[in-house]
Amino acid sequence: MAVTRSLRLVERDASGVDLAFRADVLAGLAEPQKAIPARWFYDDIGSALFEDITRLPEYYPTRAETEILADRPGEIAALIGEGRAVVEFGSGSSVKTPLLLSAIRPSAYVPLDIAGDFLRASAAALAEKFPGLPVWPVEADFMRRVELPAEVADLPKLGFFPGSTIGNMIARTATDLLRSMRATLGEGALLLIGMDLVKEEDVLLAAYDDEQGVTARFNLNLAERVNRELGGDIPVDKLRHEARWNDTFARIEMHLVAAEDFAFTVSGRSFAMRAGESIHTENSHKFTKRSAQLLLAAGGWEPRARWTDLGRQFSLVLAEAARPRSAP
Ligand code: AVJ
Repeated sequence: MAVTRSLRLVERDASGVDLAFRADVLAGLAEPQKAIPARWFYDDIGSALFEDITRLPEYYPTRAETEILADRPGEIAALIGEGRAVVEFGSGSSVKTPLLLSAIRPSAYVPLDIAGDFLRASAAALAEKFPGLPVWPVEADFMRRVELPAEVADLPKLGFFPGSTIGNMIARTATDLLRSMRATLGEGALLLIGMDLVKEEDVLLAAYDDEQGVTARFNLNLAERVNRELGGDIPVDKLRHEARWNDTFARIEMHLVAAEDFAFTVSGRSFAMRAGESIHTENSHKFTKRSAQLLLAAGGWEPRARWTDLGRQFSLVLAEAARPRSAP
């Protein structure tokens, strides 16, 4: 079936500015440690750059997760069963979704994404690959509970959250998201979630600071996007990409570091940076088997199965919506 409808839920002002983007940027730049949430990387340029990242020799997560889905379709399908509506949180144009959809014979596919144009393009490509599968794309910020299309209301759901995107969130935010996913998907839902694993620091740093500089361009595009969309004049040529391992929180951090002192404006507000000061643009948390299970439990999901790739670099966890209970 062709893509017949897409809901738009992003709020814009009269000149087309995404209000949530502006609010996040202005608030983040006013903090002592400047920060912009990583979800704003994914405009059309950023989404395309991320696709390039997934093909880099140093960036193992996409290959490792794809390997799991490609090598274990039978096992995964047996645990999920047929006829579910697959709700993908943050749909990419990846090869992972077709692997999952061919394995489990779902009854509908609902991709959710904030990057509207990219969402519609990849939803259309997918609908073409799976004739007969109803595709209902929804342009939405999935950090909040999402109203799913009425057509899938009565179907059992499988949430699909690949790529270790959950790792972009600090524990409190990740817990909120897992809980809102549970609310979006309803009673009896399953969640298939990718979670990247803790490993040697040099492997992690290389994955986020590649030889070709693609990750650097991905990071710098965020500052360029602020300039493009929010009328900013950040001197992007004076910013440097940096990836750091934060051992306390078991995460890779990406920063845009000022090479010298400068001042700039965004949406008419003034800001300044000192040489060496940074804008923190991303956290990418890495998990162990236990830390992954603990986080899922905190968000209301009970782990049912877990797979890793042969190199044990990445994990894919299948969890079930925990039933509400009063006793421990
Ligand atoms: C899409 C969030 C999984 O954290 O590895 C890739 C994004 N950032 N390189 C990740 C990303 C830098 C990616 N996720």
